[in-house]
Amino acid sequence: GANAVPQAPEDPLFGLMAAYRADTNPQKVDLGIGAYRDNDAKPWVLPVVKKADEILRNDPALNHEYLPIAGLASFTSAAAKLILGASSPAIAEKRVCSLQTISGTGAVHLGGAFLSKFYPGKPTVYFSNPTWANHNQIFSNVHIPIATYPYFSKETKGLDFEGMKKAISGAPERSIILLHACAHNPTGVDPTQDQWKELAEILKQKSHFPFFDCAYQGFASGDLAKDAWAVRYFVEQGFELCIAQSFSKNLGLYGERAGCFHFVTNPGTDAETTVKRIASQLAILQRSEISNPPAYGARVASLILNDEALFKEWEENLRTMSGRIITMRDALKNKLQELGTPGTWNHITDQIGMFSFTGLNEAQVLKLREVAHIYMTKNGRISMAGLNTNNVEYFAKAVDKVVRE
Ligand code: LMR
Repeated sequence: GANAVPQAPEDPLFGLMAAYRADTNPQKVDLGIGAYRDNDAKPWVLPVVKKADEILRNDPALNHEYLPIAGLASFTSAAAKLILGASSPAIAEKRVCSLQTISGTGAVHLGGAFLSKFYPGKPTVYFSNPTWANHNQIFSNVHIPIATYPYFSKETKGLDFEGMKKAISGAPERSIILLHACAHNPTGVDPTQDQWKELAEILKQKSHFPFFDCAYQGFASGDLAKDAWAVRYFVEQGFELCIAQSFSKNLGLYGERAGCFHFVTNPGTDAETTVKRIASQLAILQRSEISNPPAYGARVASLILNDEALFKEWEENLRTMSGRIITMRDALKNKLQELGTPGTWNHITDQIGMFSFTGLNEAQVLKLREVAHIYMTKNGRISMAGLNTNNVEYFAKAVDKVVRE
């Protein structure tokens, strides 16, 4: 009977968020979930999103009908151009199919479900160690076996590139390799362009299938094209690949669940028909799971992506967010260095994107929570956007204290 269902643990990240909310200490600091905050620790509605919202609210033609199964076409086609580049040969040659999804999570899941059903053989998916915790359960739920490749070096607090290459070249041929397109979560450590080139070579030799998870385009560097470089390079190299794309962070549309799944086939005479068949199967998966995706976030994103002036304003908003985070990286590193906190802290400014992998251990993390009301994930990850000019010194001093204990 139903009483045989075992108790599952609470989601660590959402559990942390609930604990933070319940804490009544006025000095509490939230460095948990990866969501942007302004300098007053408040969620930030992007000014360009406010404008789009205004346009939508005043549109007399707007209704609440269903979107098509694949979602809002003006959104998905603009989203493909955003990640692949407007002049991408893959788009020109009609080698891309795109479905709107329940943001990045839904895109990873749709891709996983599709690969589980159609990828020949019984492939294993390889994740970076560590990776976004949800990757594990999403792929487990679609019964794809999981393995990891080394990624983060505890010594350098940077990329363990040799370990990564060795594991990927040692994986059975035609494995699925999950890669973070930019601003790796949780480490904030990305391969350089030269390293991406080497990785592409290895993946090609082994006929591996790259699965890009792209949740931070424009958020990492403030430059949309730069943050898409790795994906575009792999497409240029003729890979068949897929991309999970989220607009949660870069448009600040967390609750609207606006995202896309893109499948790109390699160049070839039958590419266009292949992509049509893939799209037909993805549509069945989508219909059986969500029927059709939610409209609102996609409408907001579509307006911004398809209008030159709004797009420019979005780029400015992106620079505001990435710029404030970079300023906080400098401030935190400088404070720790001023305090003479034992250890090296260059990694805080070397790492990019939403997160820093501080190197603090679980005991230190728990201590920070207990004595200083600072909330971060047990692996020592901090969401940089949780820091601001009012709390960065408080945080640095608390870190200094636990490191010395
Ligand atoms: C995070 O890692 O904090 C974000 O990507 C939020 C999430 O859904 O886990």
